[in-house]
Amino acid sequence: TAQPPVGAGASTSATPPPWAPPAEPMGFPADYLWGTATSAFQVEGATTVDGRGPSIWDAFTAVKANIRGGATGEPGADQYRRYESDADLMSDLGVGAYRFSISWSRIFPTGAGQVNRAGVDHYRALVEALVARGIRPAITLFHWDLPQALQDGGGWQERDTATRFAEYARTLFDALGDVEADWFTINEPKTHAFVGHWYGVHAPGLTDPDAAAAAVHHQLLAHGLAVQAFRASGARGRIGIALNLLPVYATDPDATGGADRVDASENRLFLDPVLLGTYPVEAIGPYPGSLPADAAAFEALQQPGDLDVVSEPCDLLAIQYYGVTGVDPGGNTVTIEPTSAASWQQIRAEGLYDLLTRLRDEYPAIPLLITENGMPDPLPAVTVDDPYRVDYLRTHFQQAARAIGEGVPLIGHFVWSLLDNFEWAEGYAQRWGIVAVDFDTQERMPKASAGFFSDVIASNAVSS
Ligand code: NOJ
Repeated sequence: TAQPPVGAGASTSATPPPWAPPAEPMGFPADYLWGTATSAFQVEGATTVDGRGPSIWDAFTAVKANIRGGATGEPGADQYRRYESDADLMSDLGVGAYRFSISWSRIFPTGAGQVNRAGVDHYRALVEALVARGIRPAITLFHWDLPQALQDGGGWQERDTATRFAEYARTLFDALGDVEADWFTINEPKTHAFVGHWYGVHAPGLTDPDAAAAAVHHQLLAHGLAVQAFRASGARGRIGIALNLLPVYATDPDATGGADRVDASENRLFLDPVLLGTYPVEAIGPYPGSLPADAAAFEALQQPGDLDVVSEPCDLLAIQYYGVTGVDPGGNTVTIEPTSAASWQQIRAEGLYDLLTRLRDEYPAIPLLITENGMPDPLPAVTVDDPYRVDYLRTHFQQAARAIGEGVPLIGHFVWSLLDNFEWAEGYAQRWGIVAVDFDTQERMPKASAGFFSDVIASNAVSS
């Protein structure tokens, strides 16, 4: 690994000071929300059932070379049919909340027009199954599976997609808004914009930085419009956006400039518009670490008042935390920590503390909720013996408790994922569940980490 990183000013953090957990268990607030998470395309299967229309992930996975092993959304974890028994499973674990996503093309098979009642009824039944077991629904509206018909019209490159999203969101607030729930507008707009529109590794498979920049703005606009629709609908509960954030560490004093640019494109490009109503100009342009799109074209997408919409006040900020990155003096991201089977994931639990305290220090106060956190098994095979994941979860829960102890308004923590599932371009070869799934039989087998998590929830505390 590289030499120890040094601080890079306000937007990056120094090497974490050595921190050891206290001998006594670290407790969490009485109403702390412990949850597990999934998303529709990753677990549902049943891709042609009950009037569901095709999404961009159906089209992308139809090209076998796009996905490891040529995998598709079938069978997923068959949760479309197994949601009752999965709710029982969560109830046995004692989780307080379940974060799932709604498949837009089950609600609007062609992205707009007539509502597909069967799709709405399915999510109504899922929500009721959760509520009946005392599990709080945590509902993501967009987890990357755009209706293919909207993609055919330009997808997130078009402003109109934000308008369609607001209509879709309104339909669900009307259908489910009588139930107390947490709502998330867009899941990881960065991943969908960058990996889907710039790197070409996710659907829709584009390799165009300008398309990625447009996808950033239009997803954020969609988010703001949906928050406005939520308020207008009177739906119960809370709403926010789910951002994947990445603490950035300069490897060397000369690397701070590059680290700031990576931080701008990875973090501030999303945090600043949502929480401050501004875009960081240094995030976009032909510089190492920036999104290499045309800054003037990005500016031209923005109509007067857009940033007021994007920064419509939310009830919470949802954070997805997996690890950190280093940045060298050339502005390149470099590996400074051990990676998991996901090569992008550099594990450093203290990075979570650094992130949480930075949000406290640099942004207006808002409740924070960790809506994803986890790691994959090292091998594709089914296993229930996952000491690495127990260790990962323990150390991350400790850093969360540490941050709470220092005044960070963290209200809950969701583990990714409840189940082994379809891990996008990695297909079924990367298993992220605390519950293993045999994809031939759909048998569920709780891993050691599920037992560990269950004990943490029961005691509402984490031990060293
Ligand atoms: C973030 C995404 O939201 C989720 O869909 C994905 O499976 C996990 N990270 C793990 O890569």
